[in-house]
Amino acid sequence: MRIAMIGTGYVGLVSGACFSEFGYHVTCVDKDERKITALKAGKMPIYEPGLEDLVGNNVRGGRLEFTTDLAGPVAKADAVFIAVGTPTDRRGEGYADLTYVFAAAEEIAQSLGDYTVVVTKSTVPVGTGRKVHKIISEKAPRADFDVASNPEFLREGAAINDFMRPDRVVVGAETDRARAVLRDLYRPLFLNETPVLMMSLETAELTKYAANAFLATKITFINEIADLCEATGADVQEVARGIGLDGRIGKKFLHAGPGYGGSCFPKDTLALVHQGKEANARQRIVETVVAVNDERKLQMADRIIAAMGGSVAGKTIAVLGLTFKPNTDDMRDAPSLAIVPILEKAGATVRAFDPEGMTEAKHHLKGVTFCDNAYDTMQDADAIVILTEWNEFRSLDLARAKALLRAPVLIDLRNIYRPEDVVAAGFSYTSVGRRSVSPPQASARRPRSVSAVG
Ligand code: UDX
Repeated sequence: MRIAMIGTGYVGLVSGACFSEFGYHVTCVDKDERKITALKAGKMPIYEPGLEDLVGNNVRGGRLEFTTDLAGPVAKADAVFIAVGTPTDRRGEGYADLTYVFAAAEEIAQSLGDYTVVVTKSTVPVGTGRKVHKIISEKAPRADFDVASNPEFLREGAAINDFMRPDRVVVGAETDRARAVLRDLYRPLFLNETPVLMMSLETAELTKYAANAFLATKITFINEIADLCEATGADVQEVARGIGLDGRIGKKFLHAGPGYGGSCFPKDTLALVHQGKEANARQRIVETVVAVNDERKLQMADRIIAAMGGSVAGKTIAVLGLTFKPNTDDMRDAPSLAIVPILEKAGATVRAFDPEGMTEAKHHLKGVTFCDNAYDTMQDADAIVILTEWNEFRSLDLARAKALLRAPVLIDLRNIYRPEDVVAAGFSYTSVGRRSVSPPQASARRPRSVSAVG
């Protein structure tokens, strides 16, 4: 089985490398010459745990290649995957921009050899597969091909595991021939008894959007419940456990925080909202989710300012974590991009550290002082703010932190600490959906030792 993977972004590169690990011959194609040259030299364009080794092993094994030439690999392929970007259209209305998908389809059409399945892996609005079919048929009327949809559900930071051990594989295909090729491709997963769900093109395309929108809704739901917990003295961690153990609800994606970000949820929720409006089937729940999540990121800045006594003018803030989640260098729609500028505008100096995201963050956060490690950020700072739950921030030496800081204030927007531990170390502690707490000596200066933040 030979595969051509068009686009070596996150999805294309991870999927291509994983398919080659299954034993197929994969050629990853990209127009970006610098990226291909770097990949040939073993340099990854993104940070993803395990990817460099996976790519290296399969390149050495002769199963994985990189090239800027699309025609050669497409002509020989049994399956051509379109894994190019579908960013939010610049018009700002939430459209998914399909320019790259359609351009890839045109190029593929010119090079198809024997029977080929052209598979969209990029997240595309319902109806795109059929448009891809039309483009190819018009350009190459005699081509022997089918179009299929095979959306990915890979989480950044855990993408390889998600590919190798998925909960399910979704395939939209219209012919037995296409279904047979896709079934063969995923045969190595049969050992794990992974369900491979066969459906129509449209259903597969919508399944992807529905999955991401549902997860974004779940997160936004628990975030709003967290606000109510703060206002009423309840604990959102316990509420999440209390509802999550109900099998109908499920434990995952109930972690309250500063709002979802990343390359998928913000883009895909907007695209679904837009499709709903166009199809006259409005997605009002998802519309609300988008609005609540946007607002939440801004509210987080107010929360930080409140926890620092109502003003940050002239103060220094030590920010730990900038990426939208740990184990990635991805800064797309990261809460930090909304929060940090507000703090700076309010007069704060921000010192920040992120294990992988700083190269990218430097392009977006010009006023920030980037530091070498977590403790370096704390030098003479008036508070620590945890924005991303990297493992290395989970067990900071709080005594050392206290000695470096001007004021022992910890604002943990990911709830990675236990309030009692932080207070025992002499810190005032503000988290999400739980009471803010202060040590007894700090309470002498404040009206209450335990106060709800909101
Ligand atoms: C997501 C989907 O999980 C994946 O299936 C899809 O194909 C691509 O989009 P990813 O964006 O990599 O993956 O990250 P994910 O782990 O889903 O987290 C997304 C955002 O939600 C992050 O900002 C994260 O911090 C936030 N989140 C997640 C929460 O705030 N609480 C949670 O409980 C879970």
